[in-house]
Amino acid sequence: MSFKIITIDGPAGAGKTTVSKALSKKLGCVYVDTGALYRAVAYEIHSQKIDWEDDDRLERFLSTLDLNFVMKKDTLVLLSSGKDISGLIRTPQISMLASSVSANPKVRAALLDTQRNIAESQPAVFEGRDMGTVVFPDASCKFFLVADLKIRARRRYDELPAANQDVSDIENQIKTRDSQDSNRKSAPLKPAADAVTIDSSNLTVDQVVEEMIQIIEKA
Ligand code: DC
Repeated sequence: MSFKIITIDGPAGAGKTTVSKALSKKLGCVYVDTGALYRAVAYEIHSQKIDWEDDDRLERFLSTLDLNFVMKKDTLVLLSSGKDISGLIRTPQISMLASSVSANPKVRAALLDTQRNIAESQPAVFEGRDMGTVVFPDASCKFFLVADLKIRARRRYDELPAANQDVSDIENQIKTRDSQDSNRKSAPLKPAADAVTIDSSNLTVDQVVEEMIQIIEKA
């Protein structure tokens, strides 16, 4: 099986991260969660109290941004100014802010090289919103992973360590984020023309990965 870049795009909660992890393990390559980059930007904007709607301030902030993926035990971990912030970027507040700031073309441009540089040095599975359409238009294989909204909300609810949120709140947040991510002008969430869409609503992770492997083998 020969491939360089596999892309998996899709809406929030469709199972992209779980599937990317399992697929990359089977393929013996790394997987890159590009949502973590947008979450890291949102986290820094929030903790440094940056007025990101002020263009000059945003530009100055972006020029100081220091995001790097480093390999830790077979996994790429994102560091912001050398600090592992993985445990701080998954809150509902950061999810919503990441969705809002990711609509800004300056933010997207600032993260482009970080994503493409990883692909220079190794084969990888990249997951996000615009992997197949913008960041890696020449990827070896492109997937668009979808699932029913209620099922996505339930999966997110089950992932929460303590059920401190109502499943219907999670459903509303996912709906808002999907709408923002799909309707923005810059690199909106949509399948690439040559992407294969897989509906994971009634499939196990293994079934999704198996379907992907079959497609990758034929490519
Ligand atoms: O995949 P995620 O839920 O961690 O992503 C958080 C937000 O980041 C998502 O709502 C939109 C944005 N994002 C993006 O615009 N482009 C990507 N390639 C990945 C994420």
